[in-house]
Amino acid sequence: MTKTALVTGATSGIGNALAKLLAADHYDLILVSRDDEKMRAIKSELTDRSVTIIKKDLSQFHAAKEVFDEVKRNGLTIDLLINNAGFGLVGAFDSLPIERQSEMIQLNCAALTELTYYFLPDLRSKMGKIMNVASTAAYQPGPFMAVYFASKAYVLSLSEALAEELDKSGVTVTALCPGPTHTNFGSVAHAENIKMFSRTMDVQTVARIGYRAMMKGKRVVVTGQLNYAGAIAAKLLPRRWGAKAVRIITGSNKKK
Ligand SMILES: NC(=O)c1ccc[n+]([C@@H]2O[C@H](COP(=O)([O-])OP(=O)(O)OC[C@H]3O[C@@H](n4cnc5c(N)ncnc54)[C@H](OP(=O)(O)O)[C@@H]3O)[C@@H](O)[C@H]2O)c1
Repeated sequence: MTKTALVTGATSGIGNALAKLLAADHYDLILVSRDDEKMRAIKSELTDRSVTIIKKDLSQFHAAKEVFDEVKRNGLTIDLLINNAGFGLVGAFDSLPIERQSEMIQLNCAALTELTYYFLPDLRSKMGKIMNVASTAAYQPGPFMAVYFASKAYVLSLSEALAEELDKSGVTVTALCPGPTHTNFGSVAHAENIKMFSRTMDVQTVARIGYRAMMKGKRVVVTGQLNYAGAIAAKLLPRRWGAKAVRIITGSNKKK
């Protein structure tokens, strides 16, 4: 029987690459993002798959429930949920508009949590899979990207807790932790000129690593050896040192 995957933020970057891997693996897709046109373009490329489009701004209250209701109105049940949509912002905490920072929390944390909650009965009945896209940002505090780093720490913690809660339920939860990756993230975050983005990983590689880990039911995957080493170091060193290290790459220091 054909399986169905719901992917948030499949119009670009990591979500787009994951959606294409799923389609190649014969999954039908439900795409959720704000850009109808881009989703229709993806649908027209994937002619051999059933692709359902849900135009939704997930940074708005109740958006996750509205997505769930629309999926059910379409008579669909999902086997796989990829909570990928997210964004970051570079800048001093008190220089960034609080409205945008609240939208970030709503998208990166609340919508991800609510979608997981609403779709869990589907996933339990299908012995399904969840992937939450966290980040290497989850491993330490992030001055000058403070809310973003905190939001990803939430995603990693929630994912690991749910993976344990759902152990033996047949549902697996994978947190994908990429380091800097070549997508639209940098331009949305106004991060292109900071040192952190002077070296990025290729998006197809990141998606493939995440995809394999999700299919194996791994709980956490950090992409790339350098990022993995960074995550281990962050676990071992005092968090204050981690904050200082991040400050060097997100603060006023521009890449050479
Ligand atoms: N790139 C990196 O360096 C990096 C590193 C670690 C983790 N990540 C994480 O990876 C995930 C994907 O980011 P990316 O790098 O692929 O960035 P991206 O290319 O900017 O893609 C972001 C996706 O999220 C969707 N999105 C953004 N705001 C939305 C909203 N309010 N409602 C619904 N959808 C929304 C966008 O779709 P529309 O614009 O069509 O709505 C787009 O498809 C994010 O969670 C990000 O935090 C990225």
